Amino acid sequence: MSRGPRLTRCAAADVRLEVFVDEQNVPFVEEIDARDFEASTIHLLARGADGTPLATGRILLDPEHPGRVHLGRLAVRRVCRGTGLGARMVAALEEAALEGAGARGDGAVSVTVVLAAQERAMGFYGRCGYEVVSGESYLDAGIPHQDMAKTITRSGEPADEAPSDGEV
Ligand SMILES: CC(C)(COP(=O)(O)OP(=O)(O)OC[C@H]1O[C@@H](n2cnc3c(N)ncnc32)[C@H](O)[C@@H]1OP(=O)(O)O)[C@@H](O)C(=O)NCCC(=O)NCCS
Repeated sequence: MSRGPRLTRCAAADVRLEVFVDEQNVPFVEEIDARDFEASTIHLLARGADGTPLATGRILLDPEHPGRVHLGRLAVRRVCRGTGLGARMVAALEEAALEGAGARGDGAVSVTVVLAAQERAMGFYGRCGYEVVSGESYLDAGIPHQDMAKTITRSGEPADEAPSDGEV
């Protein structure tokens, strides 16, 4: 169901503020950043049957590196965790990443999805097929992270339309 990009982004921000700022104590000023407002950034939102926002995530595209995207700000509201929603969000974000990546000459699309995983979420991303990049641990917003990545491919023609914000 489409409710317009502004409503989708506002609802996505609500979920992120609840999960990252209220729950994980990420500073408010760090949570919503300039990348959120770039035209190429794709925000996805999952709602419950009654319209309640439940989960969100974003894909950052880099026009200079069309075969590489960044998946981030993945957040599932606490009441919905452990239901498979996080994995479904990752799959939907990967689909958006494929649509944002350029096709090769043979029509196939390949994109490497990179992400900064909170160390406590690495098992989740591992279940989604992501592998540790270097094993280097670093702090972001005071939380230990490691980089993980997964290369995904799709044969055939990509979607005609450029990917945009959406609800899943
Ligand atoms: C991490 C997060 C997105 C996972 O979402 P979720 O909806 O609970 O995960 P799912 O129910 O889709 O789980 C998918 C699989 O990963 C496993 N899994 C989930 N969280 C896990 C964790 N922290 N460690 C190890 N495995 C995990 C599940 O058991 C499930 O395994 P299965 O395929 O064998 O059934 C969610 O816990 C969350 O939003 N956490 C707070 C915000 C956060 O930390 N985001 C990540 C920032 S990098």
